Amino acid sequence: MVKQGGHRRAAARVPVALLPAAIGPKIVRSRTLGDLDTLLVVMPASAGRESLAALPEAERWQGLLDREVPQALSVRTTALTNRRQTQAVLGFLADGASMFEQLQLAGRMLKSAAARAPRSVGLVALGANPPRAARLEALLGATLAEHFALPSFKSDAGGTPALERIVLPTDPPLDTRYAKICADGTNLARWLTALPPNMLDARGYRRVLGELARRHGLGLRWLGPSELRRRGANAFLAVARGNGHRDAGIAQLTYRPERRRASAPDVALIGKGILFDTGGVNLKSHRSMLEMHTDMSGSAVALATLIALAELRAPIAADAWLAITENPVGPQAYRPQEVVRAANGTSIQVIHTDAEGRMALADTLSLAARTRPRLMLDYGTLTGACVYALTERYSGVFTNREALLERLLAAGRASGERVWPFPFDADFDADLESKVADVLQCAVESKGDHILAARFLNRFVPPEIPWAHLDLSAATRAGGLGHINTDITGFGVRFTLELLVRENLLHALREQT
Ligand code: BES
Ligand code: ZN
Ligand code: ZN
Repeated sequence: MVKQGGHRRAAARVPVALLPAAIGPKIVRSRTLGDLDTLLVVMPASAGRESLAALPEAERWQGLLDREVPQALSVRTTALTNRRQTQAVLGFLADGASMFEQLQLAGRMLKSAAARAPRSVGLVALGANPPRAARLEALLGATLAEHFALPSFKSDAGGTPALERIVLPTDPPLDTRYAKICADGTNLARWLTALPPNMLDARGYRRVLGELARRHGLGLRWLGPSELRRRGANAFLAVARGNGHRDAGIAQLTYRPERRRASAPDVALIGKGILFDTGGVNLKSHRSMLEMHTDMSGSAVALATLIALAELRAPIAADAWLAITENPVGPQAYRPQEVVRAANGTSIQVIHTDAEGRMALADTLSLAARTRPRLMLDYGTLTGACVYALTERYSGVFTNREALLERLLAAGRASGERVWPFPFDADFDADLESKVADVLQCAVESKGDHILAARFLNRFVPPEIPWAHLDLSAATRAGGLGHINTDITGFGVRFTLELLVRENLLHALREQT
Protein backbone atom coordinates (compact mmCIF):
# COMPACT_ATOMS: atom_id res chain seq x y z
CA MET A 1 0.00 0.00 0.00
CA VAL A 2 1.39 3.40 -0.99
CA LYS A 3 1.63 5.87 1.86
CA GLN A 4 0.94 9.51 1.08
CA GLY A 5 1.71 12.30 3.51
CA GLY A 6 1.61 9.85 6.40
CA HIS A 7 -1.90 8.70 5.48
CA ARG A 8 -2.81 5.52 3.73
CA ARG A 9 -4.37 6.09 0.35
CA ALA A 10 -8.09 5.25 0.44
CA ALA A 11 -8.43 1.55 -0.37
CA ALA A 12 -11.24 2.13 -2.87
CA ARG A 13 -8.98 4.22 -5.13
CA VAL A 14 -6.32 1.55 -5.43
CA PRO A 15 -6.98 -0.27 -8.70
CA VAL A 16 -7.64 -3.91 -7.99
CA ALA A 17 -5.02 -6.10 -9.62
CA LEU A 18 -7.04 -8.85 -11.27
CA LEU A 19 -4.00 -10.48 -12.84
CA PRO A 20 -0.80 -11.77 -11.23
CA ALA A 21 2.47 -9.92 -11.70
CA ALA A 22 4.12 -11.40 -14.77
CA ILE A 23 7.61 -11.80 -13.34
CA GLY A 24 8.66 -15.26 -12.18
CA PRO A 25 11.99 -16.83 -11.30
CA LYS A 26 14.59 -17.22 -14.01
CA ILE A 27 15.23 -20.83 -15.07
CA VAL A 28 18.93 -21.51 -15.65
CA ARG A 29 20.65 -24.64 -16.97
CA SER A 30 24.12 -25.04 -15.51
CA ARG A 31 26.88 -27.64 -15.35
CA THR A 32 27.74 -26.59 -11.80
CA LEU A 33 25.43 -25.91 -8.90
CA GLY A 34 27.03 -22.72 -7.60
CA ASP A 35 26.11 -21.01 -4.36
CA LEU A 36 22.45 -21.65 -3.64
CA ASP A 37 20.01 -21.00 -0.79
CA THR A 38 18.33 -24.36 -1.27
CA LEU A 39 19.27 -27.59 -3.00
CA LEU A 40 16.52 -30.12 -3.68
CA VAL A 41 17.67 -33.65 -4.45
CA VAL A 42 15.34 -36.48 -5.38
CA MET A 43 16.61 -40.09 -5.34
CA PRO A 44 15.34 -43.68 -5.26
CA ALA A 45 14.60 -44.81 -1.69
CA SER A 46 16.51 -48.02 -2.48
CA ALA A 47 19.76 -46.30 -3.55
CA GLY A 48 22.76 -46.43 -1.22
CA ARG A 49 24.96 -43.72 0.31
CA GLU A 50 27.37 -43.89 -2.60
CA SER A 51 24.80 -42.39 -4.99
CA LEU A 52 25.17 -39.13 -3.04
CA ALA A 53 28.94 -38.96 -3.57
CA ALA A 54 28.77 -36.33 -6.31
CA LEU A 55 26.96 -33.78 -4.13
CA PRO A 56 28.77 -30.95 -2.33
CA GLU A 57 29.52 -32.01 1.30
CA ALA A 58 28.57 -35.58 0.41
CA GLU A 59 29.07 -36.76 4.03
CA ARG A 60 26.35 -34.44 5.23
CA TRP A 61 23.86 -35.75 2.67
CA GLN A 62 24.94 -39.29 3.45
CA GLY A 63 24.31 -38.60 7.11
CA LEU A 64 20.64 -38.22 6.20
CA LEU A 65 20.65 -41.92 5.35
CA ASP A 66 22.31 -43.10 8.56
CA ARG A 67 19.11 -43.48 10.50
CA GLU A 68 16.62 -46.12 9.32
CA VAL A 69 15.99 -46.93 5.64
CA PRO A 70 14.12 -44.01 4.06
CA GLN A 71 10.43 -44.45 3.31
CA ALA A 72 9.25 -43.63 -0.20
CA LEU A 73 7.71 -40.12 -0.38
CA SER A 74 9.57 -39.02 2.77
CA VAL A 75 11.76 -35.91 2.99
CA ARG A 76 14.88 -35.20 5.10
CA THR A 77 16.66 -31.89 5.46
CA THR A 78 19.97 -30.58 6.79
CA ALA A 79 22.14 -27.49 6.40
CA LEU A 80 25.48 -27.44 4.60
CA THR A 81 28.42 -25.56 6.10
CA ASN A 82 29.18 -23.27 3.17
CA ARG A 83 28.94 -19.52 3.69
CA ARG A 84 25.33 -19.45 2.58
CA GLN A 85 24.49 -22.50 4.69
CA THR A 86 22.65 -24.03 1.79
CA GLN A 87 19.51 -25.78 2.90
CA ALA A 88 19.75 -29.42 1.75
CA VAL A 89 16.46 -31.21 1.06
CA LEU A 90 16.53 -34.90 0.15
CA GLY A 91 13.38 -36.64 -1.10
CA PHE A 92 12.90 -40.38 -1.67
CA LEU A 93 10.88 -42.12 -4.35
CA ALA A 94 10.02 -45.78 -4.91
CA ASP A 95 11.29 -47.30 -8.15
CA GLY A 96 8.67 -46.87 -10.85
CA ALA A 97 6.82 -44.19 -8.86
CA SER A 98 3.88 -42.67 -10.75
CA MET A 99 3.89 -39.09 -12.01
CA PHE A 100 1.37 -38.26 -9.30
CA GLU A 101 3.83 -39.55 -6.66
CA GLN A 102 6.71 -37.66 -8.24
CA LEU A 103 4.67 -34.48 -8.04
CA GLN A 104 3.49 -35.26 -4.52
CA LEU A 105 7.06 -35.76 -3.30
CA ALA A 106 8.18 -32.59 -5.11
CA GLY A 107 5.37 -30.68 -3.37
CA ARG A 108 6.48 -32.01 0.03
CA MET A 109 10.10 -31.06 -0.64
CA LEU A 110 9.13 -27.52 -1.62
CA LYS A 111 6.93 -27.23 1.44
CA SER A 112 9.76 -28.18 3.78
CA ALA A 113 12.03 -25.68 2.00
CA ALA A 114 9.51 -22.83 2.12
CA ALA A 115 10.34 -21.47 5.58
CA ARG A 116 13.78 -20.44 4.35
CA ALA A 117 12.16 -18.27 1.64
CA PRO A 118 15.01 -19.06 -0.78
CA ARG A 119 16.03 -16.68 -3.55
CA SER A 120 17.84 -19.42 -5.43
CA VAL A 121 16.97 -23.11 -5.70
CA GLY A 122 18.93 -25.94 -7.35
CA LEU A 123 17.23 -29.12 -8.56
CA VAL A 124 18.98 -32.50 -8.76
CA ALA A 125 17.74 -36.01 -9.63
CA LEU A 126 19.92 -39.03 -8.81
CA GLY A 127 19.38 -42.60 -10.05
CA ALA A 128 17.44 -43.65 -13.13
CA ASN A 129 13.95 -44.82 -12.17
CA PRO A 130 11.61 -43.03 -12.81
CA PRO A 131 13.59 -41.21 -15.53
CA ARG A 132 15.57 -38.22 -14.23
CA ALA A 133 13.97 -35.84 -16.73
CA ALA A 134 10.50 -36.66 -15.40
CA ARG A 135 11.57 -36.13 -11.79
CA LEU A 136 13.31 -32.84 -12.61
CA GLU A 137 10.23 -31.65 -14.46
CA ALA A 138 8.09 -32.53 -11.44
CA LEU A 139 10.46 -30.59 -9.17
CA LEU A 140 10.43 -27.64 -11.56
CA GLY A 141 6.62 -27.64 -11.72
CA ALA A 142 6.40 -27.81 -7.93
CA THR A 143 8.92 -24.99 -7.52
CA LEU A 144 7.02 -22.72 -9.89
CA ALA A 145 3.75 -23.53 -8.11
CA GLU A 146 5.12 -23.05 -4.59
CA HIS A 147 6.72 -19.71 -5.43
CA PHE A 148 3.68 -18.29 -7.16
CA ALA A 149 1.87 -15.93 -4.80
CA LEU A 150 -1.92 -16.24 -4.83
CA PRO A 151 -3.96 -13.03 -4.41
CA SER A 152 -3.49 -11.46 -1.00
CA PHE A 153 -5.16 -8.36 0.36
CA LYS A 154 -3.17 -8.01 3.57
CA SER A 155 -2.33 -4.40 4.32
CA ASP A 156 1.20 -5.31 5.43
CA ALA A 157 1.95 -7.45 2.36
CA GLY A 158 5.54 -7.90 1.30
CA GLY A 159 8.42 -8.99 3.48
CA THR A 160 9.19 -12.44 2.07
CA PRO A 161 11.67 -12.12 -0.77
CA ALA A 162 10.65 -13.75 -4.03
CA LEU A 163 12.44 -16.70 -5.61
CA GLU A 164 14.74 -15.30 -8.30
CA ARG A 165 16.54 -18.26 -9.81
CA ILE A 166 16.00 -21.98 -10.40
CA VAL A 167 19.14 -23.88 -11.42
CA LEU A 168 18.84 -27.16 -13.31
CA PRO A 169 21.59 -29.43 -14.64
CA THR A 170 22.36 -29.31 -18.38
CA ASP A 171 21.85 -33.07 -18.57
CA PRO A 172 19.35 -34.75 -19.10
CA PRO A 173 17.66 -32.77 -21.90
CA LEU A 174 14.50 -31.21 -20.53
CA ASP A 175 11.73 -29.16 -22.11
CA THR A 176 11.82 -26.32 -19.58
CA ARG A 177 9.73 -24.14 -21.91
CA TYR A 178 6.85 -26.62 -21.84
CA ALA A 179 7.18 -27.04 -18.08
CA LYS A 180 7.17 -23.27 -17.52
CA ILE A 181 4.18 -22.60 -19.78
CA CYS A 182 2.29 -25.47 -18.18
CA ALA A 183 3.06 -24.19 -14.66
CA ASP A 184 2.08 -20.65 -15.66
CA GLY A 185 -1.24 -22.02 -16.94
CA THR A 186 -1.95 -23.90 -13.72
CA ASN A 187 -0.95 -20.83 -11.72
CA LEU A 188 -3.23 -18.54 -13.74
CA ALA A 189 -6.16 -20.93 -13.20
CA ARG A 190 -5.36 -21.01 -9.46
CA TRP A 191 -5.07 -17.23 -9.28
CA LEU A 192 -8.39 -16.52 -10.98
CA THR A 193 -10.14 -19.19 -8.91
CA ALA A 194 -8.77 -17.70 -5.68
CA LEU A 195 -10.00 -14.16 -6.41
CA PRO A 196 -12.84 -13.01 -4.13
CA PRO A 197 -16.24 -12.91 -5.86
CA ASN A 198 -16.62 -9.16 -5.44
CA MET A 199 -13.42 -8.64 -7.41
CA LEU A 200 -13.81 -11.35 -10.04
CA ASP A 201 -17.41 -10.43 -10.82
CA ALA A 202 -18.70 -10.64 -14.40
CA ARG A 203 -17.44 -7.19 -15.25
CA GLY A 204 -14.03 -7.89 -13.72
CA TYR A 205 -13.80 -11.21 -15.56
CA ARG A 206 -14.56 -9.47 -18.84
CA ARG A 207 -11.76 -6.99 -18.17
CA VAL A 208 -9.42 -9.88 -17.39
CA LEU A 209 -10.32 -11.57 -20.68
CA GLY A 210 -9.75 -8.36 -22.64
CA GLU A 211 -6.32 -7.94 -21.11
CA LEU A 212 -5.30 -11.60 -21.57
CA ALA A 213 -6.54 -11.65 -25.17
CA ARG A 214 -4.41 -8.57 -25.88
CA ARG A 215 -1.31 -10.00 -24.20
CA HIS A 216 -1.47 -13.40 -25.88
CA GLY A 217 -2.83 -12.38 -29.29
CA LEU A 218 -6.18 -14.18 -28.88
CA GLY A 219 -9.48 -13.31 -30.52
CA LEU A 220 -12.25 -12.38 -28.07
CA ARG A 221 -15.98 -12.23 -28.66
CA TRP A 222 -18.41 -11.45 -25.88
CA LEU A 223 -22.00 -12.65 -26.12
CA GLY A 224 -24.05 -10.56 -23.68
CA PRO A 225 -27.69 -11.08 -22.68
CA SER A 226 -29.30 -9.56 -25.79
CA GLU A 227 -27.05 -11.48 -28.18
CA LEU A 228 -27.75 -14.68 -26.20
CA ARG A 229 -31.48 -14.01 -26.33
CA ARG A 230 -31.23 -13.76 -30.12
CA ARG A 231 -29.51 -17.13 -30.15
CA GLY A 232 -32.13 -18.65 -27.88
CA ALA A 233 -29.67 -19.46 -25.08
CA ASN A 234 -32.45 -19.51 -22.48
CA ALA A 235 -30.87 -22.18 -20.28
CA PHE A 236 -27.85 -19.96 -19.62
CA LEU A 237 -30.10 -16.90 -19.38
CA ALA A 238 -32.32 -18.57 -16.78
CA VAL A 239 -29.34 -18.75 -14.42
CA ALA A 240 -28.15 -15.24 -15.33
CA ARG A 241 -31.61 -13.67 -14.98
CA GLY A 242 -31.32 -13.07 -11.24
CA ASN A 243 -28.05 -11.16 -11.48
CA GLY A 244 -29.66 -7.72 -11.34
CA HIS A 245 -27.15 -6.47 -13.88
CA ARG A 246 -26.45 -7.26 -17.51
CA ASP A 247 -22.79 -8.11 -17.16
CA ALA A 248 -23.10 -11.90 -17.49
CA GLY A 249 -22.31 -13.56 -20.77
CA ILE A 250 -20.58 -16.24 -22.75
CA ALA A 251 -17.05 -15.46 -23.93
CA GLN A 252 -15.42 -17.03 -26.97
CA LEU A 253 -11.64 -16.78 -27.13
CA THR A 254 -9.75 -17.91 -30.19
CA TYR A 255 -6.20 -19.09 -30.79
CA ARG A 256 -5.09 -19.89 -34.33
CA PRO A 257 -1.60 -21.11 -35.26
CA GLU A 258 0.44 -19.18 -37.86
CA ARG A 259 -0.91 -19.56 -41.40
CA ARG A 260 -4.17 -21.03 -40.17
CA ARG A 261 -5.78 -17.76 -39.13
CA ALA A 262 -9.14 -18.53 -40.70
CA SER A 263 -9.40 -22.25 -40.00
CA ALA A 264 -12.23 -23.95 -38.13
CA PRO A 265 -11.36 -25.01 -34.58
CA ASP A 266 -9.68 -28.36 -33.97
CA VAL A 267 -10.76 -28.24 -30.36
CA ALA A 268 -13.27 -26.27 -28.30
CA LEU A 269 -12.60 -25.97 -24.55
CA ILE A 270 -15.80 -25.16 -22.67
CA GLY A 271 -15.79 -24.02 -19.03
CA LYS A 272 -18.30 -23.48 -16.24
CA GLY A 273 -17.75 -19.95 -14.96
CA ILE A 274 -20.18 -19.59 -12.08
CA LEU A 275 -18.67 -16.65 -10.20
CA PHE A 276 -20.55 -17.46 -7.04
CA ASP A 277 -22.97 -20.33 -6.57
CA THR A 278 -25.47 -19.47 -3.83
CA GLY A 279 -27.64 -22.36 -5.00
CA GLY A 280 -30.26 -19.86 -6.13
CA VAL A 281 -33.72 -20.06 -4.54
CA ASN A 282 -32.79 -23.61 -3.49
CA LEU A 283 -30.26 -21.84 -1.29
CA LYS A 284 -27.12 -23.63 -0.13
CA SER A 285 -26.27 -23.78 3.58
CA HIS A 286 -23.33 -21.95 5.15
CA ARG A 287 -20.75 -24.73 4.78
CA SER A 288 -21.67 -25.77 1.28
CA MET A 289 -21.83 -22.16 0.06
CA LEU A 290 -18.59 -20.94 1.63
CA GLU A 291 -16.16 -21.95 -1.13
CA MET A 292 -18.53 -21.32 -4.04
CA HIS A 293 -16.46 -18.46 -5.46
CA THR A 294 -14.38 -21.36 -6.84
CA ASP A 295 -17.32 -22.52 -8.96
CA MET A 296 -15.77 -20.74 -11.95
CA SER A 297 -12.67 -22.92 -11.94
CA GLY A 298 -13.79 -24.83 -15.04
CA SER A 299 -13.73 -21.58 -17.02
CA ALA A 300 -10.32 -20.70 -15.59
CA VAL A 301 -8.96 -24.08 -16.70
CA ALA A 302 -10.36 -23.69 -20.24
CA LEU A 303 -8.96 -20.15 -20.46
CA ALA A 304 -5.53 -20.95 -19.02
CA THR A 305 -5.21 -24.01 -21.28
CA LEU A 306 -5.99 -21.91 -24.36
CA ILE A 307 -3.34 -19.40 -23.32
CA ALA A 308 -0.82 -22.20 -22.78
CA LEU A 309 -1.54 -23.56 -26.29
CA ALA A 310 -0.94 -20.08 -27.68
CA GLU A 311 2.28 -19.63 -25.70
CA LEU A 312 3.51 -23.04 -26.90
CA ARG A 313 2.55 -22.03 -30.46
CA ALA A 314 0.91 -25.44 -30.64
CA PRO A 315 -0.23 -26.42 -34.16
CA ILE A 316 -3.80 -26.69 -32.85
CA ALA A 317 -6.63 -24.30 -33.72
CA ALA A 318 -8.43 -23.86 -30.40
CA ASP A 319 -11.36 -21.93 -28.96
CA ALA A 320 -12.36 -21.45 -25.34
CA TRP A 321 -16.02 -20.89 -24.47
CA LEU A 322 -16.64 -19.55 -20.99
CA ALA A 323 -20.10 -19.44 -19.38
CA ILE A 324 -19.81 -16.50 -17.00
CA THR A 325 -22.53 -15.60 -14.49
CA GLU A 326 -23.39 -15.84 -10.84
CA ASN A 327 -26.05 -18.20 -9.60
CA PRO A 328 -27.76 -15.58 -7.46
CA VAL A 329 -30.80 -15.32 -5.23
CA GLY A 330 -33.24 -12.48 -5.82
CA PRO A 331 -36.71 -11.57 -7.05
CA GLN A 332 -35.78 -12.31 -10.68
CA ALA A 333 -33.94 -15.56 -10.03
CA TYR A 334 -35.15 -18.68 -11.86
CA ARG A 335 -37.29 -21.18 -9.96
CA PRO A 336 -37.96 -24.93 -9.85
CA GLN A 337 -40.67 -25.97 -12.36
CA GLU A 338 -39.79 -23.29 -14.88
CA VAL A 339 -39.59 -24.68 -18.40
CA VAL A 340 -36.97 -23.09 -20.64
CA ARG A 341 -35.97 -23.80 -24.23
CA ALA A 342 -32.23 -24.05 -24.82
CA ALA A 343 -30.34 -22.80 -27.87
CA ASN A 344 -30.54 -26.18 -29.63
CA GLY A 345 -34.34 -26.30 -29.21
CA THR A 346 -34.39 -28.72 -26.24
CA SER A 347 -36.97 -27.81 -23.59
CA ILE A 348 -35.79 -28.25 -20.00
CA GLN A 349 -37.93 -28.66 -16.88
CA VAL A 350 -36.08 -26.99 -14.00
CA ILE A 351 -36.03 -29.10 -10.82
CA HIS A 352 -33.38 -27.58 -8.57
CA THR A 353 -31.81 -24.15 -9.02
CA ASP A 354 -28.53 -25.38 -7.54
CA ALA A 355 -28.00 -27.53 -10.64
CA GLU A 356 -27.13 -24.31 -12.51
CA GLY A 357 -23.84 -25.52 -13.97
CA ARG A 358 -25.46 -27.91 -16.43
CA MET A 359 -27.93 -25.16 -17.47
CA ALA A 360 -25.11 -22.71 -18.23
CA LEU A 361 -22.99 -25.37 -19.94
CA ALA A 362 -25.88 -26.71 -22.05
CA ASP A 363 -26.14 -23.58 -24.18
CA THR A 364 -22.40 -23.01 -24.17
CA LEU A 365 -21.86 -26.52 -25.56
CA SER A 366 -24.51 -25.89 -28.26
CA LEU A 367 -22.92 -22.60 -29.32
CA ALA A 368 -19.44 -24.15 -29.41
CA ALA A 369 -20.77 -27.12 -31.43
CA ARG A 370 -22.09 -24.78 -34.15
CA THR A 371 -18.47 -23.99 -35.06
CA ARG A 372 -17.95 -27.72 -35.84
CA PRO A 373 -14.82 -28.43 -33.79
CA ARG A 374 -13.22 -31.85 -34.23
CA LEU A 375 -13.15 -32.33 -30.48
CA MET A 376 -14.98 -30.77 -27.54
CA LEU A 377 -13.72 -30.84 -23.95
CA ASP A 378 -15.67 -29.29 -21.10
CA TYR A 379 -14.70 -28.53 -17.52
CA GLY A 380 -16.86 -27.72 -14.53
CA THR A 381 -17.24 -28.17 -10.80
CA LEU A 382 -20.54 -29.70 -11.71
CA THR A 383 -21.65 -32.08 -8.98
CA GLY A 384 -21.15 -32.85 -5.33
CA ALA A 385 -21.90 -36.46 -6.30
CA CYS A 386 -18.60 -36.68 -8.18
CA VAL A 387 -16.75 -35.54 -5.05
CA TYR A 388 -18.59 -38.16 -2.98
CA ALA A 389 -17.67 -40.83 -5.51
CA LEU A 390 -13.99 -39.98 -6.00
CA THR A 391 -13.00 -37.59 -3.19
CA GLU A 392 -10.98 -34.58 -4.35
CA ARG A 393 -7.99 -36.66 -5.47
CA TYR A 394 -9.37 -37.46 -8.91
CA SER A 395 -11.72 -35.72 -11.32
CA GLY A 396 -14.49 -37.60 -13.12
CA VAL A 397 -14.39 -38.13 -16.87
CA PHE A 398 -17.21 -38.99 -19.27
CA THR A 399 -17.08 -39.32 -23.05
CA ASN A 400 -19.36 -40.02 -25.99
CA ARG A 401 -16.50 -42.06 -27.57
CA GLU A 402 -15.59 -45.08 -25.50
CA ALA A 403 -12.51 -45.52 -27.69
CA LEU A 404 -11.11 -42.27 -26.23
CA LEU A 405 -11.33 -43.42 -22.63
CA GLU A 406 -7.99 -45.20 -22.47
CA ARG A 407 -6.28 -42.10 -23.86
CA LEU A 408 -7.99 -39.85 -21.34
CA LEU A 409 -6.94 -42.10 -18.46
CA ALA A 410 -3.40 -42.30 -19.85
CA ALA A 411 -3.17 -38.48 -19.98
CA GLY A 412 -4.29 -38.44 -16.35
CA ARG A 413 -1.57 -40.88 -15.32
CA ALA A 414 1.15 -39.18 -17.39
CA SER A 415 0.32 -35.66 -16.19
CA GLY A 416 -0.31 -36.64 -12.57
CA GLU A 417 -3.76 -35.01 -12.79
CA ARG A 418 -5.71 -38.21 -12.50
CA VAL A 419 -9.17 -38.79 -13.97
CA TRP A 420 -11.53 -41.70 -13.51
CA PRO A 421 -14.42 -42.75 -15.76
CA PHE A 422 -18.08 -43.36 -14.94
CA PRO A 423 -20.83 -45.14 -16.88
CA PHE A 424 -22.31 -43.25 -19.77
CA ASP A 425 -24.99 -45.64 -21.03
CA ALA A 426 -28.07 -44.26 -22.77
CA ASP A 427 -30.48 -46.05 -20.42
CA PHE A 428 -29.58 -43.52 -17.69
CA ASP A 429 -31.62 -41.03 -19.73
CA ALA A 430 -34.79 -42.67 -18.39
CA ASP A 431 -34.04 -40.95 -15.04
CA LEU A 432 -34.32 -37.56 -16.76
CA GLU A 433 -37.66 -38.12 -18.48
CA SER A 434 -39.98 -35.16 -18.00
CA LYS A 435 -43.78 -35.23 -18.28
CA VAL A 436 -43.91 -31.74 -19.77
CA ALA A 437 -40.54 -31.04 -21.41
CA ASP A 438 -37.90 -32.83 -23.45
CA VAL A 439 -35.72 -33.41 -20.43
CA LEU A 440 -35.48 -32.88 -16.69
CA GLN A 441 -32.62 -30.64 -15.58
CA CYS A 442 -31.78 -33.22 -12.90
CA ALA A 443 -33.53 -36.01 -11.03
CA VAL A 444 -35.58 -35.24 -7.92
CA GLU A 445 -33.45 -37.70 -5.95
CA SER A 446 -29.74 -37.14 -6.35
CA LYS A 447 -28.58 -40.73 -6.93
CA GLY A 448 -25.74 -40.80 -9.47
CA ASP A 449 -26.12 -37.10 -10.18
CA HIS A 450 -22.66 -36.85 -11.77
CA ILE A 451 -23.71 -39.49 -14.32
CA LEU A 452 -27.09 -37.85 -14.94
CA ALA A 453 -25.46 -34.44 -15.32
CA ALA A 454 -23.16 -35.88 -18.00
CA ARG A 455 -26.14 -37.51 -19.76
CA PHE A 456 -27.97 -34.18 -19.60
CA LEU A 457 -25.03 -32.35 -21.21
CA ASN A 458 -24.86 -35.06 -23.87
CA ARG A 459 -28.13 -33.69 -25.31
CA PHE A 460 -26.34 -30.49 -26.25
CA VAL A 461 -23.40 -32.10 -28.05
CA PRO A 462 -24.07 -33.40 -31.57
CA PRO A 463 -23.26 -37.13 -31.59
CA GLU A 464 -20.86 -36.75 -34.50
CA ILE A 465 -18.47 -34.58 -32.45
CA PRO A 466 -16.11 -36.49 -30.13
CA TRP A 467 -16.54 -35.02 -26.67
CA ALA A 468 -15.23 -35.50 -23.15
CA HIS A 469 -16.69 -33.95 -20.02
CA LEU A 470 -14.57 -33.40 -16.90
CA ASP A 471 -16.41 -33.07 -13.60
CA LEU A 472 -13.70 -31.25 -11.65
CA SER A 473 -14.00 -32.85 -8.23
CA ALA A 474 -10.24 -32.18 -7.81
CA ALA A 475 -10.51 -28.41 -8.40
CA THR A 476 -10.14 -27.76 -4.68
CA ARG A 477 -8.80 -29.98 -1.92
CA ALA A 478 -7.99 -29.03 1.68
CA GLY A 479 -4.19 -29.11 1.97
CA GLY A 480 -3.63 -29.30 -1.78
CA LEU A 481 -3.08 -32.12 -4.25
CA GLY A 482 0.09 -33.52 -5.84
CA HIS A 483 2.67 -30.75 -6.18
CA ILE A 484 0.15 -28.01 -5.34
CA ASN A 485 0.24 -27.04 -1.66
CA THR A 486 -2.79 -24.74 -1.69
CA ASP A 487 -6.46 -25.73 -1.56
CA ILE A 488 -7.08 -24.41 -5.06
CA THR A 489 -5.33 -26.82 -7.41
CA GLY A 490 -5.81 -25.54 -10.97
CA PHE A 491 -6.51 -29.17 -11.88
CA GLY A 492 -7.10 -29.66 -15.59
CA VAL A 493 -4.47 -27.54 -17.32
CA ARG A 494 -1.62 -30.09 -17.00
CA PHE A 495 -4.03 -32.87 -17.92
CA THR A 496 -5.27 -31.15 -21.08
CA LEU A 497 -1.83 -30.09 -22.31
CA GLU A 498 -0.69 -33.68 -21.86
CA LEU A 499 -3.70 -34.89 -23.85
CA LEU A 500 -3.51 -32.37 -26.68
CA VAL A 501 0.19 -31.55 -26.96
CA ARG A 502 2.17 -34.51 -25.69
CA GLU A 503 -0.24 -37.32 -26.56
CA ASN A 504 -1.55 -35.49 -29.64
CA LEU A 505 -5.12 -36.68 -29.25
CA LEU A 506 -6.28 -34.78 -32.34
CA HIS A 507 -3.88 -36.77 -34.48
CA ALA A 508 -5.27 -39.98 -33.06
CA LEU A 509 -8.81 -38.78 -33.84
CA ARG A 510 -7.83 -38.11 -37.44
CA GLU A 511 -6.59 -41.66 -37.78
CA GLN A 512 -9.77 -43.11 -36.31
CA THR A 513 -12.07 -41.33 -38.75
N1 BES B 1 -21.12 -26.25 -7.88
C1 BES B 1 -21.95 -27.27 -7.38
C2 BES B 1 -21.28 -28.63 -7.26
C3 BES B 1 -20.08 -28.72 -6.37
C4 BES B 1 -20.20 -28.54 -5.00
C5 BES B 1 -18.86 -29.06 -6.89
C6 BES B 1 -19.08 -28.66 -4.20
C7 BES B 1 -17.73 -29.17 -6.11
C8 BES B 1 -17.86 -28.96 -4.75
C9 BES B 1 -23.18 -27.47 -8.29
O1 BES B 1 -23.64 -26.34 -8.92
C10 BES B 1 -24.28 -27.99 -7.42
O2 BES B 1 -24.64 -27.31 -6.50
N2 BES B 1 -24.77 -29.19 -7.71
C11 BES B 1 -25.81 -29.78 -6.96
C12 BES B 1 -26.73 -30.52 -7.93
C13 BES B 1 -27.98 -31.09 -7.31
C14 BES B 1 -28.87 -29.99 -6.82
C15 BES B 1 -28.71 -31.93 -8.35
C16 BES B 1 -25.22 -30.75 -5.94
O3 BES B 1 -24.21 -31.41 -6.27
O4 BES B 1 -25.71 -30.80 -4.82
ZN1 ZN C 1 -25.08 -25.26 -7.79
ZN1 ZN D 1 -22.24 -24.79 -9.21
